Amino acid sequence: MEMINNLPDPVNFRKDEIITMLLKEEYGFLPARPYSVTATVEQNDNNFAAGKASLKKISLCCKGEWGEFTFPVYYAAPKIGTSIPCFIHLNFRDLIPDKYQPTEEIIDNGYAILTVYYQDITADNDDFTDKFAGVVYPDGVRENDDCGKIGLWAWSAMAVMDYALTLPELDHKKISVAGHSRLGKTALLAGALDKRFYCAFSNDSGCSGAALARETTGETIKNICTTFPYWFCENYKKYQENVESLPFDQHWLIAANAPHKVYVASAAEDGWACPKNEYLACVAADGYYKKLGKEGFVHPDRLPTVGDRFHEGDIGYHMRSGTHFFGREDWHNYISYINQDD
Ligand code: GCU
Repeated sequence: MEMINNLPDPVNFRKDEIITMLLKEEYGFLPARPYSVTATVEQNDNNFAAGKASLKKISLCCKGEWGEFTFPVYYAAPKIGTSIPCFIHLNFRDLIPDKYQPTEEIIDNGYAILTVYYQDITADNDDFTDKFAGVVYPDGVRENDDCGKIGLWAWSAMAVMDYALTLPELDHKKISVAGHSRLGKTALLAGALDKRFYCAFSNDSGCSGAALARETTGETIKNICTTFPYWFCENYKKYQENVESLPFDQHWLIAANAPHKVYVASAAEDGWACPKNEYLACVAADGYYKKLGKEGFVHPDRLPTVGDRFHEGDIGYHMRSGTHFFGREDWHNYISYINQDD
């Protein structure tokens, strides 16, 4: 199978070296983790989804070396006892259910779901005084390697993980993080930074997510640094004119999820996310998983086509028909990927 030229191989690097590289040059260093996370139930609907589930709105108060920050989390859980697997979903809206989150179906499959509306953490713009950004950057100014918005959203997924681990009904070994597009990039980063996740699910994450930057036919580093510079650290702009000077590529982000599982989902008509390069990134991350004694990416020796799903390895993958979207087919694939581990 054809491969991308001049791809730096992460295999000779330690995980902490890979992560330092990604943070210093792309996403920026994140604020310290909270030293306490306290939950207050604000609303409780015990009759959600025909009474099959409960839906709570919770305030999570996080305290850390930067001060204090409180944000809402939505928690839907089926009434099925204990050992419930769970998703932490960073979503584009605070709606339950939502077009990207078919909550009743997720519950009917025996899963709980904790949802964060990403702009409750910080606005999706260049205002670094907004919400949590304003807590960690009081004057709204960042150093060149301080994190951008993706780093702050990823931080919230890890804080929700702290909370999830206090919930006795959940299977603490089966808590995954999931997100679509910009939030798929975020899910991959959270998965790389937090070994407690079972799997990080990246849905159509594309440029600066799962897709290799070199030889992309979709969005480039220059495109993304022009439109969304605030998602990243300032250092990332160094590479926008010369992708070949990048000392890594996005397969490092996938590899940094090892040894836990990671999953890349693509949509055939999502050219901007470059599905081919999302796939080739999985292929290129395989060696790092294997080095750690994991299964890696089990796939045929060809490019993917619509309907392919490769669920055998620790790097899971599917390619569905259609456009840029986080739909039922994606969720069902994620659930069956986790369920095969029972
Ligand atoms: C834009 C952006 C992508 C991003 C997407 C999204 O299209 O260029 O990088 O993934 O928005 O988050 O929906």
